Amino acid sequence: MLRVAVLASGRGSNLRALVDAIGRGELAACIVGVFSDKAASGALALARAAGIAAIHVDPKTFPSRLDFDRALFEHVDASGADLIVCAGFMRILSPEVVAPRVARMINIHPSLLPNYPGLHTHQRALDAGDRDHGASVHVVIPALDAGPVIAQTRIAIAPGDTAESLAARLLPREHALLVQVVRWCSEGRLRFDAERVVFDERHLTGPLSAD
Ligand code: GRF
Repeated sequence: MLRVAVLASGRGSNLRALVDAIGRGELAACIVGVFSDKAASGALALARAAGIAAIHVDPKTFPSRLDFDRALFEHVDASGADLIVCAGFMRILSPEVVAPRVARMINIHPSLLPNYPGLHTHQRALDAGDRDHGASVHVVIPALDAGPVIAQTRIAIAPGDTAESLAARLLPREHALLVQVVRWCSEGRLRFDAERVVFDERHLTGPLSAD
């Protein structure tokens, strides 16, 4: 059974998607802990309600970013997680904690990477006049939102779309995308590191589609 640690800072809708898929018997995984920098996050509340270990690590109690990151990952490592999922985790992690974990840490990002790493992705896609938008699950490397892209889901941008309508239409597709990638990991079909993704023993030349 794949042991999954989830890092989240916000409401936790991606976490809920994983919890619900597991509950429906559609994902052979076990969430061994939810870790957050935000005590009041929906993700921690969701974890507690689901009987999952909910660990808050407060950045304000550490003298440096690296000290916080090291403390956070001491907890993550103690959970025995095979896979670490960043799902709405809104902090940039130090290279020192990312580098040793690149083969088992993924992030869900609401854009068609490599387009629009960072924030405000929906508005940036609108401002650029893009016809399509989407979400990506990628390998976490020290550079922000820059690791090999594992899989993507794509939606059309409709006339009159706002950042809010686009985000709302994309979110359920993100959920399905993340569950699919974690499922592939649980089935042993997916391996990756900082440079490449291997799916069913084939090196990927581009992202898998979850659509
Ligand atoms: C999602 O759009 C996710 O792609 C991004 O953060 C947003 C909130 O995620 N990383 P969640 O609802 O907290 O899971």
